[in-house]
Amino acid sequence: MALEFTRLGPHMGIAAEGVDLATPPDTTTAGELRRALLDGLVLCIRGRPLPPDAYVAAMAPFGTPRPQLGLHRRHPERAEIMILSSEDRDELGDGGRIVVGAAWHTDDSFMALPCSLTILHGIEVPESGGDTQFVNMYAAYEALPDAMQRRLTGVRVVHRYDSSRKGNRVGTRSAEEVARTPDVDHPIVRTHPETGRKALYLNPNRMEQVVGMDRAESDQLLDQLIAHATEPRFQYRHKWHRGDVLIWDNRCTMHKANADYPEGSRRVMHRIIVEGTRPV
Ligand code: OGA
Ligand code: MN
Repeated sequence: MALEFTRLGPHMGIAAEGVDLATPPDTTTAGELRRALLDGLVLCIRGRPLPPDAYVAAMAPFGTPRPQLGLHRRHPERAEIMILSSEDRDELGDGGRIVVGAAWHTDDSFMALPCSLTILHGIEVPESGGDTQFVNMYAAYEALPDAMQRRLTGVRVVHRYDSSRKGNRVGTRSAEEVARTPDVDHPIVRTHPETGRKALYLNPNRMEQVVGMDRAESDQLLDQLIAHATEPRFQYRHKWHRGDVLIWDNRCTMHKANADYPEGSRRVMHRIIVEGTRPV
């Protein structure tokens, strides 16, 4: 079966069929998949659940995997894989339910070098619910009035793991994990290193305050930009099929999990993040 691409949404999302990831893609196929990702922002490769070694090997053309920070969710066979499960609980805290990414965010912006890509592989998916939503941050930037685009030039924002503005619950972290994530600041508009296009760079979960602005003015600006960027016109909503490998570009998108699947239905994802560069 030949490699075939289909658009998933009007302005983002692309699906690839006809590629069997049980063996790593050849150079030509890998190049086509990477181009499709740059073009579609979210790339879904349809297939069957892969064993951990095959999954990691198949994703090598997308970049260098970064070992997962949260030690207790690491896959026992592969340090590159984090297991996200509907059974996740706050093990170091009160044992309450944890749904990773339940509010709009981009991955790893609390780091000086946030990951470029995130890859989720659907091992078990619920029959209904559990979709992942995305927004196109190029489109959100381009839709801003000129005056706002000018206002944002050179503006930087402090990102903090445990931001006072965060919308979701984060798991309790060990002192060592906390010490590894000091505050960082990033530009509020970034230029994608591969496409050269400008994108809004927001993370409602981790942004603490605009550098050089008082708190009230900063909150007002961030709230306004978040409301704009998450408008339905910029969204794509991914409905999972078992075996999907979903790759998204954190440099020009935000995303959000939905914990709306029925009680008792399982959702298990194998997650890989890919090394990135300093946002500019
Ligand atoms: C993530 C994430 C969303 C989901 O893995 O970074 O936000 O739908 N996941 O599981
Ligand atoms: Mn995420």
